Amino acid sequence: MSNRISRNFRNIFLTLIAICGNVCLPAPAFSQSDIGIEFKDKGQIVKTLTLSELATAFPAVSLKIFEIHEKKDHIYKAYPARALFDKTFGKEWKKAEEIVFISMDGYQASIPVTKFLSHDAYFAFAHDDDSPFTMTNILQNNEVVQLGPLYLIWDNMKSKVLLQDGASDMPYQVKSIELTTFATRFPNLSPPAKASAEAQLGFLHFRKYCMACHMINGEGGGKAPELNYPTSVVEYIKPKYLTRWIENPSSIRHNTLMPGLAQEIPNRAKVTKEIIEYLKAMSTTKRSPKRQDIH
Ligand code: HEC
Repeated sequence: MSNRISRNFRNIFLTLIAICGNVCLPAPAFSQSDIGIEFKDKGQIVKTLTLSELATAFPAVSLKIFEIHEKKDHIYKAYPARALFDKTFGKEWKKAEEIVFISMDGYQASIPVTKFLSHDAYFAFAHDDDSPFTMTNILQNNEVVQLGPLYLIWDNMKSKVLLQDGASDMPYQVKSIELTTFATRFPNLSPPAKASAEAQLGFLHFRKYCMACHMINGEGGGKAPELNYPTSVVEYIKPKYLTRWIENPSSIRHNTLMPGLAQEIPNRAKVTKEIIEYLKAMSTTKRSPKRQDIH
């Protein structure tokens, strides 16, 4: 009898140690140190690294940026992106065309490699003051969002170009990083060859400002509704309201989580118009998402 009790005590004790090993750590809101971040090259996984493995492989820096999601300066602890790519993919990553970042909430940012060659990007993994790694996203109806495991930030304090880009190239909750080419990864997002010059420009804007959240023909981010299949937004939303959805979504739907097209973007009205031309062109080329291999 006494033996059984002590065995039970021992089991409870071991269970507590096991629970505390995972949960009772002081830093993050939930333990993210064991999440494996996948590095892929054209669909193949070349490496999987946990945050603790990253910590032993890279020296971290403290970086002050203008935090576009909060519209104020902020300091993060981060790893330089180019050094991280060199180590995980080898120097050849520079010859890739596009890098796709997949987030835990379905956001899918596709960023040209050239941007990483001409600007300094970093992967933040903590606030400088080690407070819980979350943020109040004022672009998203003040939602409190988890930032880890990795958050892509840019050394933007002295760069007008980066500040004008808005927050679309700043994915948080990044769990997968993939080298690819745009045309092979997203074959059904391109407008038909006969589409107008305006629609072609709109396609470039859509890639930059919309596709991280939205899909067209099943391709793009999974954080927001598909916009083209089976019925395009240009078919069921009046043009005037479509413009408002893009520029000022909360004037259409109260508490919407969609951020408006950033105020900082030069020629914002023209950009909106071109995006709508792109959406019109796509409404003539619908493809069933079922055929796509999104992940
Ligand atoms: C950060 C994510 C995000 C980005 C970036 C974003 N959207 Fe949205 N969008 C949403 C969400 C979420 C909804 C659903 C909103 C709701 O129901 O309140 C939405 C809704 C819409 C709708 C209405 C669809 C419907 O059927 O009701 C349109 C149109 C739209 N977005 C177009 C765009 C365009 C064009 C862009 C690029 C300029 C864009 N969005 C960028 C998240 C985003």
